Amino acid sequence: MRVLVTGSKGMLGTSVSKVFKDHDLLLTNSTELDVRNFDQVMSWAKSKPNVILHLAAETDLVRAEFNPGDAYMTNHTGTLNMAHLAETLNVPIVYIGTAGIFDGKKKIYKEEDKANPLHHYGRSKYYGELAVKQYKKHYIVRAGWAMGGGPEVDKKFINKIYKLAKSGAKKLYGINDMYGNPTYTMDFAMTLKNIVEKRPEYGTYNSGGKGSASRLAVLKEFIKLLGLSKKIEIIPVTDKEFCKLFPSGYPKTGSEVLSIKKLEKSGLSAMRDWQSALAEYAKEFI
Ligand SMILES: NC(=O)c1ccc[n+]([C@@H]2O[C@H](COP(=O)([O-])OP(=O)(O)OC[C@H]3O[C@@H](n4cnc5c(N)ncnc54)[C@H](OP(=O)(O)O)[C@@H]3O)[C@@H](O)[C@H]2O)c1
Repeated sequence: MRVLVTGSKGMLGTSVSKVFKDHDLLLTNSTELDVRNFDQVMSWAKSKPNVILHLAAETDLVRAEFNPGDAYMTNHTGTLNMAHLAETLNVPIVYIGTAGIFDGKKKIYKEEDKANPLHHYGRSKYYGELAVKQYKKHYIVRAGWAMGGGPEVDKKFINKIYKLAKSGAKKLYGINDMYGNPTYTMDFAMTLKNIVEKRPEYGTYNSGGKGSASRLAVLKEFIKLLGLSKKIEIIPVTDKEFCKLFPSGYPKTGSEVLSIKKLEKSGLSAMRDWQSALAEYAKEFI
């Protein structure tokens, strides 16, 4: 299969590049394929991919909150452009969704739950879902809190903890009232591969690491894996307390937990429980 990948140098793209290596990969970055640029997007039609993995997105929640126009251009208009390319070629497109489209009031979210995004990142990604849904041959696969790419590429929680620990921090604060599914990008990429190869019914699928966790639980587990539990004090705080110490600039959602039962029932989920996945990922930092 010839697979066109947008945003291939990011956290998930790095894993997709490894996991899909037995396919003919067209790995693109934002210079070669800027999803906001319609003409450039359509110029990829001549390379005749059989499937499109649309991973590219503005993923920085703070940047999205302060430059919403850019976030909507990339996450909404960019996805419309990619869906148009897929429709022109009559090939399936896979779009990566996020639990950030929900308001966090429910404990756990199913595929059909109503979106109610609280911030521009979540809203722009929700509009991306709506954009890709205009074309029948789509898969929306939603991920939880990403862990992947290693110290050079990971922009999220795990690498932030690693950098703080490496810089000699003696205490770290862990939020105890925010929950999600820590999602190892290697497992998630394998799940995407199963979907692309086995072609279940088109539509929306939640994914993410098995089991939910608070930020505090992930922090504790990672510090333990780094062998630093005795050196670093971990202080549990609520999100409100954390935001007073370190203002985030965007509204937080209490629960970002996704129910992954639909994908598990289909037999296509390659997600491990988050603790085993984190133990595997932590090897890149030790
Ligand atoms: N990270 C998470 O926790 C998480 C959770 C749920 C869902 N997701 C979704 O998963 C997907 C992959 O995210 P990720 O975790 O791999 O994030 P990432 O590391 O930030 O990767 C995103 C990639 O998108 C590229 N990109 C940004 N603007 C672009 C544009 N206009 N045209 C083409 N490429 C562009 C970036 O490339 P450049 O650096 O070259 O700009 C970057 O390599 C995204 O759709 C994201 O919304 C992520």
